[in-house]
Amino acid sequence: MNYSEKIVQYIRQLFNQPKGFIPLHVPVFYGNEKKYLNECIDSTFVSSVGKFVEQFEEEMGRYTCTKKAVACVNGTNALHLALILIGVVPGTEVITQPLTFVATANAINYCGAKPVFIDVDIDTMGLSPASLKTWLDNSTKKLKNSTNQTITINKTTGRQISACVPMHTFGHPARIDEIVNICEQHNIPVVEDAAESLGSFYKGQHTGTFGEIGVLSFNGNKVITTGGGGMLLFQDEALAKRAKHLTTQAKVPHRWEFIHDEIGYNYRMPNINAALGLAQLEQLPKFLKAKRNLAQSYSNFFSTLTPASILTFLTEPDNAKSNYWLNSVILENRSRRDDFLKFTNENGIMTRPTWELMDRLPMFNDAQCGDLTNAEWIADRLVSIPSSVIV
Ligand SMILES: Cc1ncc(COP(=O)(O)O)c(C=O)c1O
Repeated sequence: MNYSEKIVQYIRQLFNQPKGFIPLHVPVFYGNEKKYLNECIDSTFVSSVGKFVEQFEEEMGRYTCTKKAVACVNGTNALHLALILIGVVPGTEVITQPLTFVATANAINYCGAKPVFIDVDIDTMGLSPASLKTWLDNSTKKLKNSTNQTITINKTTGRQISACVPMHTFGHPARIDEIVNICEQHNIPVVEDAAESLGSFYKGQHTGTFGEIGVLSFNGNKVITTGGGGMLLFQDEALAKRAKHLTTQAKVPHRWEFIHDEIGYNYRMPNINAALGLAQLEQLPKFLKAKRNLAQSYSNFFSTLTPASILTFLTEPDNAKSNYWLNSVILENRSRRDDFLKFTNENGIMTRPTWELMDRLPMFNDAQCGDLTNAEWIADRLVSIPSSVIV
């Protein structure tokens, strides 16, 4: 048996599914989901008002040790709003990584800003502090604006760098303390795209709580789901208050008048989604344990394959506790990667490469980039393998 056949056989054994299709990541609903959804329907509060939204926000705030959490319709609009809140305006630039889901770069574009793509570290797959520092040192200069604040300007384009958005790839935390530290020296606010990393901690602190704002996603493929949903995590209560205002069409509270004091958005999570989310959140510790067990089983199994160079299973980086949202392996080169993707998918095992790097997409291929050697190396080799919670 070759290694691909052995892996298919092992995955079938792990998921106790000798035949049929094994997906990459599916949700499981074994808690209070139906109970809370029924309560929600019985109360008639299924839309943007209702007790589950507040409860879900409070519980999420408690779990992540965030001062305030604000629930949104999805992670993409939560990212959009986070960038607006920290002052990303048209004509500015936002640093992010090329190895990410397109929503990160799209949200930058929604603000009329341009992404700048900086490389990732091989071990974390998140934005590399060393590459970030090199690019900032070589390609930007600091100036004082009209209110005497230090701003960082791209020397080539003359545009202000208005934010930095690192992403915790597949749930493995980036070196976020270093990233925040470098950005602080340049007065660049950090929005953490923690869409994939609910339940992941860096140096004991939850991802998404290091920068000004963190963003979670509860899409159907994430560790917990609300159907569709997202959450903004704030340490600054005034900013959270403004987020609630903007997500509810910027309506000035009044019992009957409809007055809106600025351009707002319909980005508030409906109660029915929050009901599902609350029930899912109650099970998060159980899900994380199951995902950690699965990762350990994979790790043990892959260490038995010979020669060891064929394939490497990705484990959590130093100082990190990962949620192991999507387990992934690194193959020897792109051609091995493609053979493995073809064989597994043809044999009913869903596997996926990483996203096409952002700078290669038509909408972003004119973006400024640093040296992207690591992102390109990973994109050529990485394959994600089935990672659902096994109950
Ligand atoms: C890195 C990243 N950012 C943003 C998002 C967007 O979240 P959503 O699908 O909830 O809009 C996702 C997931 O879908 C993601 O993986």
